[in-house]
Amino acid sequence: MNDPNGAIQWEGEYHLFYQHNPNGPLWGDIHWGHAVSKDLIHWTDWPMALAPTPGGPDEAGVFSGCAVNNNGQPMLIYTGTRGARHEIQTQCIATSDDGLLTWKKYDGNPVISEVPAESGQTRDFRDPFVWKEGDYWYMVLGSRINEVGGAVFLYRSTNLTTWEYLNPLLTGDIKESAVIWECPNFFKLGDKWVLIISAHFGTATGSVLYYVGDYANQRFTPTSQGVLDFDSLYAPLSFLDDSGQRVMYGWLRETRPAPEQSQAGWSGVQAIPRVLGLDSQNRLTMKPVEALKSIRGQAHHVGTTSLNGEQVLAVRGQALDIEARFAPAADGAAGLKVLCAEDESSYLNIQYDAATQRLIIRNVVPDFGQAVIAHVREIPHVLAAGELLELRVLVDGSVVEIIVNERTSVTSRVYPSRSDSNQVRLWGKQTELRSLDIWEMPSIW
Ligand code: FRU
Repeated sequence: MNDPNGAIQWEGEYHLFYQHNPNGPLWGDIHWGHAVSKDLIHWTDWPMALAPTPGGPDEAGVFSGCAVNNNGQPMLIYTGTRGARHEIQTQCIATSDDGLLTWKKYDGNPVISEVPAESGQTRDFRDPFVWKEGDYWYMVLGSRINEVGGAVFLYRSTNLTTWEYLNPLLTGDIKESAVIWECPNFFKLGDKWVLIISAHFGTATGSVLYYVGDYANQRFTPTSQGVLDFDSLYAPLSFLDDSGQRVMYGWLRETRPAPEQSQAGWSGVQAIPRVLGLDSQNRLTMKPVEALKSIRGQAHHVGTTSLNGEQVLAVRGQALDIEARFAPAADGAAGLKVLCAEDESSYLNIQYDAATQRLIIRNVVPDFGQAVIAHVREIPHVLAAGELLELRVLVDGSVVEIIVNERTSVTSRVYPSRSDSNQVRLWGKQTELRSLDIWEMPSIW
């Protein structure tokens, strides 16, 4: 699987569609898979929702898109592709009359077929994200302006079939971010508006960026921006749930080579859904959904302690939910090693250096008998005076989701090859641990 698609809560149940290749674990022949959940934690596979139609506008692929409730009728809005290199991208719709189980494509597809002329190119035009405001439906599409940078184009409609192009919602700078902006999300959060884009090709390729600002008269004016995730989370898709929360899914890319993905027989996974918010400085905040706490198993607690050195904790596991709070001194450092092998030949080290106000995430793997650093990320994370360092870490096999002070996210992939890569080590210097709580997590299957 790759991108999450069509996120919606329908009659209480959460429906998640996703980019899927039914023929094997590498990208290609893109269909929409479908899964359903009552709690965002336990999922049931449903039949394939959309497949390419030979001779149709989606004959080469059913690319990403969203779902809406059109007056009681569920509708999927997605990009269909044609051509050997997906060079023709148009927007299509499909509806269901049996509770989201089967889907009928609209006879008049595509509903948008022309890239706006100011784009200066005709092939990158995809990933519709649609919402309703007053009498109109609005759509943003991911695209680019030739030689300028990634762009998001804004449309509106009264009936979801006839669309009027308005203007670019935002355009990036090719030198700073990317050539193409994919998978835009645009929504109101509190009294601000947030635009999320996934950057493709160029300096920021592979990162997910967000802009916070004001939206009036179909124009968006960002007042601040940030990075949504610093590692493998890509193409996130958010939706408003029945309780009014903005919930976000995100695809976690593989970092192991393609032959290993083929050998494993699967590739791509979705992050634990997160609830989005804004803090007082208009930074995007993220919390794993509350329901995750309901499946927490055996708990382990460490109270306030001065840290000077490293200790191996009694808890072991490759599926853990961790909450840690530290008070580092001005030149202190603190951290956790997870998925640590008994002989320390492999682990993921999550480190914070107070002096440089940086997070350093190191993935150490064995190589010809030696432990070497396979992957390192250094990320600025500034704590306000007196603010504790708060780590939330979700370990699940090859996934380590790290969210720091609810505002810095680093979602990493680690592939522990040994079953004893299950220790947790706590370490620090000139740092007081305020509390550490670790829950062993059960299988959801
Ligand atoms: C993002 C993306 C989308 C596209 C889809 C194809 O990962 O490239 O822009 O719709 O994947 O699978």
